[in-house]
Amino acid sequence: MFDWQRRGIGRKLVSCAALELKKQGAKSLLIAVQEDNPNKKFYEYLGGQLVGKRPLDWEGYATREFLFGWQNIEVLVAQIS
Ligand SMILES: CC(C)(COP(=O)(O)OP(=O)(O)OC[C@H]1O[C@@H](n2cnc3c(N)ncnc32)[C@H](O)[C@@H]1OP(=O)(O)O)[C@@H](O)C(=O)NCCC(=O)NCCS
Repeated sequence: MFDWQRRGIGRKLVSCAALELKKQGAKSLLIAVQEDNPNKKFYEYLGGQLVGKRPLDWEGYATREFLFGWQNIEVLVAQIS
């Protein structure tokens, strides 16, 4: 863990991005996270539902992405703003 983590920056970042996407007309949100990423739980904390997995070729490393979804972006915005 880096010393800049777990200080609320990620929450603010997703909050700003979700608000901007909502303003642009987005109704839902999907975020892809590489399966070995130890920070996956961040998206669960934000209420993302695991809606799928897909293969990922990461510069020759065959892995997968986990897809976290929010069906209603307004719920996410209200939850973290
Ligand atoms: C993932 C990332 C954006 C999270 O940002 P952050 O500023 O550390 O997260 P926040 O402080 O806003 O976390 C909010 C809550 O999410 C949860 N959370 C965040 N990171 C977590 C982790 N690694 N494991 C478990 N829970 C976590 C916690 O409940 C946390 O609240 P708490 O610290 O009071 O317990 C950040 O760690 C990051 O940029 N990591 C490197 C790149 C990366 O992994 N990106 C994701 C690929 S898509």
